[in-house]
Amino acid sequence: MYRRPLLQALPRLGRLALAAAGLATMAWMPAQAQGNYPSRTITMVVPFAAGGPTDTVARLVAESMSRDLNQTVVVENVGGAGGTLGAARVAQARPDGYTVLMHHIGMATTPTLYRRLSYDPVGGFAPIGLVTEVPMTVITRKDIPAKDLKELAALIRKETTGINYANAGIGAASHLCGLLLQKAVDAPMTTVPYRGTGPAMTDLISGTVDMMCDQTTNTTEQIRAGAVKVFAVTTAERLAAMPDVPTAAEAGLPGLEVTIWHGLYAPKGTDTAIVNRLSAALQKALQDPKVGQRFADLGTTPVASDRATPAAHAAFWQNDIAKWKPVIEAAGQYAD
Ligand code: MLT
Repeated sequence: MYRRPLLQALPRLGRLALAAAGLATMAWMPAQAQGNYPSRTITMVVPFAAGGPTDTVARLVAESMSRDLNQTVVVENVGGAGGTLGAARVAQARPDGYTVLMHHIGMATTPTLYRRLSYDPVGGFAPIGLVTEVPMTVITRKDIPAKDLKELAALIRKETTGINYANAGIGAASHLCGLLLQKAVDAPMTTVPYRGTGPAMTDLISGTVDMMCDQTTNTTEQIRAGAVKVFAVTTAERLAAMPDVPTAAEAGLPGLEVTIWHGLYAPKGTDTAIVNRLSAALQKALQDPKVGQRFADLGTTPVASDRATPAAHAAFWQNDIAKWKPVIEAAGQYAD
């Protein structure tokens, strides 16, 4: 049986009164929501597998943010397709501050690399703040027959189809570093994609794959333990966390320089007050001595507070998109 919608069934004056009350309620609701925010668990999506570098950064930051927000911040790993599955999950989530994304430099390369996505890789997000800058390391299984980067480059050139290279999918940091490495060595390598470099590291340690270029947050401890062999860091200067390891330039491959950054995002449309609240908690987490110490142990540094703001993050992100666009277009390699 057809029922008239409730609003139509009411007399006109009643409808007006109800509409006015509704508007008043709506105007009051966001303020109320922000005042109570956060009133339940926040999910921080990591678009890569557990145990990898993005996961490590996210867990450290989430734990510290939880204390300031007085609510649990749980990390959820949604890996696959170079980070685009996890990013889609957040872009399409309710913009209520309860789902956020911890992502890396892939946020700057995806808009050019992926021409067919189910979400808007730029307009779908509200930046909250930059988090950290992380150097990368060129590492191999520990029994690779090369004692320095020049010998490794020669081995890659000699066995072009033999040496394989693990990465976390197109647009992942390990993929970008791999592209620079192949360019510097001037030889192609067979790539083996993973949902993140956490599981890739397990296979590198067991010798299932030959090499990888990955963030120090994932490699420092394995290098120190002798579980993998390190050849170079991808920064202009050597790192305090591994002073004996040469820079790629010192080791003979000057073109191999890249630093990874992480940022925190909410879905577009999230209330500004909520974004600012999350940014304040992020800034506090980055000043947390426990977080700073752990980052230093892993060869990375949290960004200064003035970069962990929505405005600084937005400007840096746009710049990086513009920086990578011509590089990707020149390479002509797309994810589709
Ligand atoms: C990458 O290569 O982009 C990262 O290592 C991904 C990850 O966090 O696993």
